[in-house]
Amino acid sequence: FSNSVEASICVAQEIATLIKLKQANNKPCILGLATGSSPIRVYEELVRMHIEEGLSFSNVVTFNLDEYYPMDKNSIHSYFYFMHQHLFNHVNINPNNINIPSGSVSQKELHQYCIDYELKIKEYGGLDFQLLGIGRTGHIGFNEPGSHYNSGTRSITLDHLTKIDAAPSFLGINNVPKKAITMGIGTVKSAKRIVLLAWGHNKSSIIKDTIEGEITSEVPASYLQKHSNTTFILNEEAAQDLT
Ligand code: F6R
Repeated sequence: FSNSVEASICVAQEIATLIKLKQANNKPCILGLATGSSPIRVYEELVRMHIEEGLSFSNVVTFNLDEYYPMDKNSIHSYFYFMHQHLFNHVNINPNNINIPSGSVSQKELHQYCIDYELKIKEYGGLDFQLLGIGRTGHIGFNEPGSHYNSGTRSITLDHLTKIDAAPSFLGINNVPKKAITMGIGTVKSAKRIVLLAWGHNKSSIIKDTIEGEITSEVPASYLQKHSNTTFILNEEAAQDLT
């Protein structure tokens, strides 16, 4: 796409079409969602469709990819806060249908909590659609380099580059949490449809490695090459290094 706004509107339309298709069949629509700067315009368009066109979220169930750990959900830095600010507060989703990893479970409960998050996705029959961004490390969710292609929801230590990228919003790298809870590569890959968004020059090199490089745990997003229904939605700057 020549610009990210046009691209985001196109992605929002695909999501809206899926929601309506599921509604017509009396089925829930299971969406895997991402935070960060990349999907903001998609959420804005979905909110507009809800307000101006009556798009209903009554059958929508969401699972967010990740959350910092530890993290209070009321903090302005939490992904819980982000999702409510950009989407959930503005649409008619049932709050019981919103699933975001909790950054405040105890260390002791963490392992079982992650297993249960994974199980809950499976109980719904898996994700119908997974929206992704990509980090400069090649992470999807917070699956940093070294992540196994079959990994499930778990706690992970953030890569130094990921902390550098998060530092401005935390007003310094020392304030960035060292860990996160993330869906695994296996969780993401089990989605029936995956759309990854990337905008801007600073993503062009990792986009090239992801799409044209070898499949390697050093670039976790490269595992998506093996997924049969994945689309990368890029603006010109993010695509500039592709051959
Ligand atoms: C966020 C997430 C991350 C981001 C990635 C890109 O839920 O899972 O993988 O998608 O760090 O972030 P932005 O879009 O801010 O460049």
